[in-house]
Amino acid sequence: MKDFTDLIYGYEKKVPTSKGLKRYINLDNAASTPPFKGVIDQIKAMAAWYAGVHRGTGYKSKYSTEQYEMARNVIAQFVGADLRKQTVIFTRNTTDSINKVRHYLPYLPGESVVFSSFEHHSNELPWTGYPHTVIDIRNGQFDLGQLEEYLKQNQNRVKLVAICGASNVTGYTPPIYTIAEMAHRYGSKILVDGAQLVPHRPVKLFPADDPRHLDFLVFSAHKMYAPFGTGLLIGPKDLFAQGLPSQVGGGTVKALTAAGPVWQEPPANEEAGSPNVLGAIATAEACRILSRLGWDTLVKQENELISYTLACLRQMPQLTIYNPNPDNRVGVIAFNVAGFTHQQVADFLADHYGIGVRNGCFCARRYVMDLLNINFKQLSDLKPEAVPGMVRISFGCYNQKFEIDRLCEALEVLVRGKLK
Ligand code: ALA
Repeated sequence: MKDFTDLIYGYEKKVPTSKGLKRYINLDNAASTPPFKGVIDQIKAMAAWYAGVHRGTGYKSKYSTEQYEMARNVIAQFVGADLRKQTVIFTRNTTDSINKVRHYLPYLPGESVVFSSFEHHSNELPWTGYPHTVIDIRNGQFDLGQLEEYLKQNQNRVKLVAICGASNVTGYTPPIYTIAEMAHRYGSKILVDGAQLVPHRPVKLFPADDPRHLDFLVFSAHKMYAPFGTGLLIGPKDLFAQGLPSQVGGGTVKALTAAGPVWQEPPANEEAGSPNVLGAIATAEACRILSRLGWDTLVKQENELISYTLACLRQMPQLTIYNPNPDNRVGVIAFNVAGFTHQQVADFLADHYGIGVRNGCFCARRYVMDLLNINFKQLSDLKPEAVPGMVRISFGCYNQKFEIDRLCEALEVLVRGKLK
């Protein structure tokens, strides 16, 4: 495996454990990744020239505006967006992006939305206020038959198929382009929540006349080595030019007349207030770095680490691995250890081995409870600390096999301690 650890800012930091200071092993990249050093360098360089954008006539303001707009172009190129037809809107994060899409898709009587049973709450809760249908996962696969049946029966009345590109619980990657073709065949649009996919796999929007095209793609820079408060929303320009902006304020109007405001064109109408210039520039630099590393290398590397980890974890019969399949997935692995709560396992890894993981329900309660075979009724009487969940490890492009060895050593110690 190639070693990209040197690209990561703070990789060498040690943290306190019961055995003294240990180098931190970050296996919680699905929550947020550390920044690339190149991103920090870019921010430092740009900070010296930083000024408010789109509003000033000073040199720094013009320069910052140019850099901000250039960042938009770099991101468009990264996902194959055509800025003549599509718009790249800078938001706060994936959640913010999805809420903006909801604002632009008012529901008419008889219309509904479809999402999967393995969505993060960000791509479930915005849609639950509308008539909706949940498509299941069967034998670990998105149920394409169920989707097609529903779309067929409700042709031209399904406003949107909203689907995550990769699960933040099991890493499962549904076939988004097949789903896109199906959605378009029956007169629907597709939104891909790319929060867990875009940092791990190449994602392209494809032109609107290609049946595989993605109508909306949303993702977060803090999960792709640029944690500076930027999210992305990419979608059709003409749609975002209709109606009222989701938030109004400075930068959203061309003119304010006696008859009322004249709204800016997208993306400006959706970027109310002073934009997060450094966040945008950081995101573009992360895209450049990922492209430079090359997707073939990144994917091969991650698949190797997934197989290595699954092989290690499978050695321990006390572990239940949710989605042990090495295919159609990214490096997100959830498990439980018999005899321990998810909190105990996560605490043990952090306190004694300096390993950072996430535990609980990962803001994806529907999926986690399905995987655990627990129904919502059973949950209502439980205290928050007793709510069932899982332990999750998740990789960044820089994780190494020796870190997995440390994880497995820790889990073995935990399990053996309990069995003694
Ligand atoms: N959605 C992020 C996670 O899964 C925060 O941890």
